[in-house]
Amino acid sequence: MLFPQQIRSQFPILGREVASRPMVYFDNAATSQRPQCVLDMQDDLCRRHNANIHRAVHTLSYEATDFYEKGRIAAQRFVNAASPQEIVLTAGTTSAINMVAQSMVRGGFLKEGDGILLTEAEHHSNIVPWQMACQMCGAHLEVVPVRAGAASANDGAVDMEAYREALRRGVRMVAITHVSNILGAVNPVREMVAEAHAQGIPVLVDGAQGIGHRRVDVQQLDCDFYAFSGHKIYAPTGIGVLYGKREWLEKLPPVMGGGDMVAKVTFEKTTYADIPLKFEAGTANYVAAACLAPALEFASSLAGDRQAALHEKELMAAMDAALGSVSGIFVAAAAATDRIPLYTFTIDGVHPLDAATLLDKMGFEVRSGHMCAEPIVSRIGGGSMLRASLMPYNTVEEVEAFGAALQRVVKMLRQ
Ligand SMILES: Cc1ncc(COP(=O)(O)O)c(C=O)c1O
Repeated sequence: MLFPQQIRSQFPILGREVASRPMVYFDNAATSQRPQCVLDMQDDLCRRHNANIHRAVHTLSYEATDFYEKGRIAAQRFVNAASPQEIVLTAGTTSAINMVAQSMVRGGFLKEGDGILLTEAEHHSNIVPWQMACQMCGAHLEVVPVRAGAASANDGAVDMEAYREALRRGVRMVAITHVSNILGAVNPVREMVAEAHAQGIPVLVDGAQGIGHRRVDVQQLDCDFYAFSGHKIYAPTGIGVLYGKREWLEKLPPVMGGGDMVAKVTFEKTTYADIPLKFEAGTANYVAAACLAPALEFASSLAGDRQAALHEKELMAAMDAALGSVSGIFVAAAAATDRIPLYTFTIDGVHPLDAATLLDKMGFEVRSGHMCAEPIVSRIGGGSMLRASLMPYNTVEEVEAFGAALQRVVKMLRQ
């Protein structure tokens, strides 16, 4: 594939304007855009194959079921799970993590006095479900610090010494992000899993930000669970993936009951379907699930591409230069040794909300606020920051224009 024009041409939305200017979409960490192959699949399913899955013997239902299960197989191959049965289709990362957290409690795998280890840089989706689990069973959170902020090394790294110490303090579950949606730094997940497993502790990895930027091989990572959302990797919203090791999925109880997840129902007793269906109660978002196939195929075509890797390096070098040219800027985890093209920053004397509003008037779509990671943003950014996050369809020219726009913003807004 030729970079970046041939990629861009596959994303119709990138041709639109915002505020009468060419739109520059830098909010990819919130949601990525969809290529034509995904839009076509969505359209075709709704127009020609729409029917409920897994239930009827008629043609349309068979077709819709087939598309749904192909989405599952695409996810299995993309993360190299051993079997499609280890892939639970969910509504997104959030519902996947909630499912594991509640099921761990219901199954008796988390109890009073147990520790649940998180890092300080987790998204609310990997904090709140575990707090709820704690409320349900009397467990508690163990929060490990990261090196971020003006007063520390600012490389975004998890404090591994603190991690090892915490593991020895009665921790029974580790839930860590692959890549923080604030820091952009890639966590050494394989090493962290190995350390936890050495103490017999299972690990869930929040892959919402990792999935679009790093090759994920769950067998190599050896994690017990890996959760991600389709909409962060070219697929529609409303579909997510929970990879779970077979041994865990088989012993965990379902947390939602309803149609499709049962083997036999009587008023006296219900038996559940085999994995993964026992975790998929109710009518699934089969259109979005089916779209995982073209979306992940598109992502795979980029993942192995040397030009794509080069392009990403160029984008990051351009962003370093653009942000470096702005006076009074603080970039979270600026010294990270392994990062994705996601930059969260503050600018002295400029409120992030004002800056994001003005940038929008210039055609730049960026995120501002706490970005659903309030604890880390409060500590390093006073509760509100700006974030620019890129995908392969972004260009160096866009990044350079962004640098110039930031300088204008500073001139207009600095107090
Ligand atoms: C690191 C991280 N975890 C979890 C989520 C939640 O994803 P979703 O809202 O798709 O469930 C996000 C979304 O931004 C994220 O960045």
